[in-house]
Amino acid sequence: MSELLSTIFPLESAIPDRFKIHEPVTQREYLVGGELKIWNGNLNPVFSPVFIKEGESYTQKVIGSTPLLTSKESLDALDAAVKAYDLGHGEWPTLSVTQRIEHVERFLVAMRISRDEVVKLLMWEIGKSLKDSEKEFDRTCDYISDTVKALKDLDRNSAKLIEEQGYMAQIRRVPLGVALCMGPFNYPLNETFTTLIPALIMGNTVVFKPAKYGVLLIRPLIEAFRSSFPPGVINIIYGRGRETVGALMETGKIDVFAFIGTNKGANDLKRLHPKPHRLKAILGLDAKNPAIVLPDADLDNAVNECIMGSLSFNGQRCTALKILFVHTRIVDAFIEKFKAGILKLKPGMPWDEGVNLTPLPEPGKTDYLADLVRDAKQYGAKVMNKMGGDSLNSFFYPALLYPVNDKMKVYAEEQFGPVIPIVPFTKDEEAINYVVNSNFGQQVSIFGSDSKHVAKFMDAFVNQVGRINLNTQSQRGPDSFPFNGRKDSAEGTLSIADALRVFSIRTIVATKNTDDNIQIISNIIRNRESAFLSTDYIF
Ligand code: G3H
Repeated sequence: MSELLSTIFPLESAIPDRFKIHEPVTQREYLVGGELKIWNGNLNPVFSPVFIKEGESYTQKVIGSTPLLTSKESLDALDAAVKAYDLGHGEWPTLSVTQRIEHVERFLVAMRISRDEVVKLLMWEIGKSLKDSEKEFDRTCDYISDTVKALKDLDRNSAKLIEEQGYMAQIRRVPLGVALCMGPFNYPLNETFTTLIPALIMGNTVVFKPAKYGVLLIRPLIEAFRSSFPPGVINIIYGRGRETVGALMETGKIDVFAFIGTNKGANDLKRLHPKPHRLKAILGLDAKNPAIVLPDADLDNAVNECIMGSLSFNGQRCTALKILFVHTRIVDAFIEKFKAGILKLKPGMPWDEGVNLTPLPEPGKTDYLADLVRDAKQYGAKVMNKMGGDSLNSFFYPALLYPVNDKMKVYAEEQFGPVIPIVPFTKDEEAINYVVNSNFGQQVSIFGSDSKHVAKFMDAFVNQVGRINLNTQSQRGPDSFPFNGRKDSAEGTLSIADALRVFSIRTIVATKNTDDNIQIISNIIRNRESAFLSTDYIF
C-alpha cells in the first residue's frame, strides 16, 4: 500500500476536537402536520465515508441513524400537506405574499443558528470539505434571501391592472398544490432548498424527503421548519425511496414533483402517478458535460479550469466536466500540466486545512470507478498519473485516463467521481458529434482563443445543451442564471427567478372595460375586498 493510502484515514485521536462526533446521533423525529412525531420502528444506520484507523484495521464510522418510515407514515405526511392546501383554500395558499415572506424569513433566521451543526454533518455524511460545506450553507442562505427579493419584484410587477383590446385584467402567480421535493446527496442542503423554498414561498404545501446520504444534516433544521410554518405546510419524511415516495406518487395527490437525481429514478417515480398530465415535474438529472480544448487555448487556464471542473468535490457534481476532448496538437502538453495539477491537490479528511480530495459517500463507488478504469485499460487507455486509481475503503485517488475511445464505458457513462477521461481529437466534428449524439444535454465548456473557431463550436451547441461555457468550467452559478438541460439531463429551468415561476401558475381576472365593470373592480380594490385583485405592493 502506498504511503498516501496508509495515512489517508485518521486515528480517532487525530480528529480535531471541534469536528469529533462523540456520540452517534439517533434521530427518531419526523415532521407531519406541524408535529414532531417520534418513530419507534426500525432505524437506518448512517455511515460516514470516513473510516477510522485502529492499528492495521479500519472501521467505517457510524455517525447516527434515521427513521425507516413505512408507506403509512409517508401517506400521513401527504394527508397533512393535502389538508393544509385544502384544494387551494387553505391558510397557506391564500396567505398574502407579504405574510408568506415573513414565514420564510423567520425560517432563515432560525436556520442560520444551526450553521456549525449542519456544516459538521455535511462533512461527516458526504465527505465535503469544511470550506465547501460552509460555502454550501452560506450559498443556501443567500439563495433564500435572494428568493425573497425576487418574489417582491414579481409581486410588484403583478400589482398593476392591464388594459388590452377593451379588456381590463390582473394577472398574478398562484400555487400549484402539493409538492414532493427530493434532493441529491452531493448538495443535500443547497440543491434541495433551491426547490423546497420556492415551492413553499409560492404557496404550495410540501412533503420533503431528504437525499439518500446527507440526511442527518436536516435534523438541526426540523424545529426551524416546524416553528416557522403553519401545520402541514412542510412535512419531512425519511426512509427508503420506493416504499415512502412510491406510495405518495401512486395516490395521484402530488401536483408537483421536484427531484434532483438520476433520470431512471425520475422516470420510475413519474410513471407511478395515475394522472401524469396533472403532474408538473421539475427535474435536475444526469449529465456528462464535455470540455473541448482547441489547439490555441490558453493551456494553463484550460488545465486549471478542467481540474476544478472535473475534481471539485471529487467530481461529484452534476455540472462536473466528465470527459475532456483535447486536440492532438496539444494533448501531450495538456496531460503533463494536468498530472502536475493533480499532484497539487491535497488528499485528506474533510476538516483538513486546504483539503481537495476526500472519501466518497456512496457504498461500492470505489469498486465501480476501479471497474471503469479496468474497462478503459482493456480498450487501450493508460492511467497517466502517479497513484491514479489507487484506492482504499472509500477513498479513490483521481485517475487520468488516456487515450479514451467510444468502446469504453467511461466514454458514455456518468462516472460522478474522480476519473478523468481524455479523448484526443483532430477534426472538430469528432467533438461536436459526441455532444449531438449524447443522451445528455446539460452544459459544455469550450477552451480556445480564435473567435471564429470558438463561434463555430458555440453555434453547433446552442440547440444541444443549456449552457455553453467559454474558457471556464461548467457550473450552475451564479444562481440568478438559468439552470436547465436537454434530453435526459433535466426538465424545467431553475434560477432564483425561474424557480418562482415553475412552482406557480398565472391566474387572470379579466373583464370587459364597461363602466359597470370598472365600478365593481374599483370597489373591490378600494375596499380591499379581494386578496387576489389588489393593487397593493410590497416595498
Ligand atoms: O450537482 C449539481 C450542482 O447544481 C452543481 O452546482 O456547479 O455550483 O457546483 P455547482
